[in-house]
Amino acid sequence: MTSIQIAPSILSADFCNLERDLKAIANADLVHVDVMDHHFVPNLTLGEPIVKRICEVTDLPVDVHLMIEDPDRWAPEFAKAGAYSVTFHMGATHAPVRLARQLHDMGVRACFAVRPAEPVEPIFDILEEFDMILVMTVEPGFGGQKFLGNQMAKVRRLRDEITRRGLDTKIQVDGGVSPTTAHIVAEAGADVLVAGSAVYGAEDPAKAIDQIRDNAQAAYKD
Ligand code: DX5
Ligand code: ZN
Repeated sequence: MTSIQIAPSILSADFCNLERDLKAIANADLVHVDVMDHHFVPNLTLGEPIVKRICEVTDLPVDVHLMIEDPDRWAPEFAKAGAYSVTFHMGATHAPVRLARQLHDMGVRACFAVRPAEPVEPIFDILEEFDMILVMTVEPGFGGQKFLGNQMAKVRRLRDEITRRGLDTKIQVDGGVSPTTAHIVAEAGADVLVAGSAVYGAEDPAKAIDQIRDNAQAAYKD
């Protein structure tokens, strides 16, 4: 049975109390770190020195989501900083296969992301190169946006292709995931769920993580 993984996004954490907020999600499977550069997306967050400190401080694997221009140049720096996985966007990367292989050579998992208006089918030709595909369920850039249910057909097509070819590629969804939408993404075949505001906006972040995981696990269909 596939086990659902929950990756809280620290975008909704308190950046002045990051160590405290990392401890609050100890029951998560990964910690999701959103890197934004004010160019690929309008927002600006944090860079490699802070990711390095997060990797040193947390026991969780660090899942770095690059929403930056020129990831071909910068992604390896995040691998060096100690990331467990590095995600880069279809709309920003020039040579995704070369970059995935470079990350693998550094011992880091490679993930390819599509925005809501981008098709997933072009990735089918290079699917074996990636450990995980991220299907955005909001337009990237900000936490707390409304979940885009219209992305579920894309998740399902991707899950069916992965199953048909006997691959173990993970499918991540990011944006608007909460205890009330978790079953929708899991039913469509997603198995790594990012949640920012639903975790850090909850009174008890650890409890919110368990709720999201339980609801998704009950609904998962491969
Ligand atoms: C949005 C980021 C997300 C964000 C999700 O561009 O990639 O990781 O933190 O936030 P919520 O879960 O609040 O939609
Ligand atoms: Zn993200």
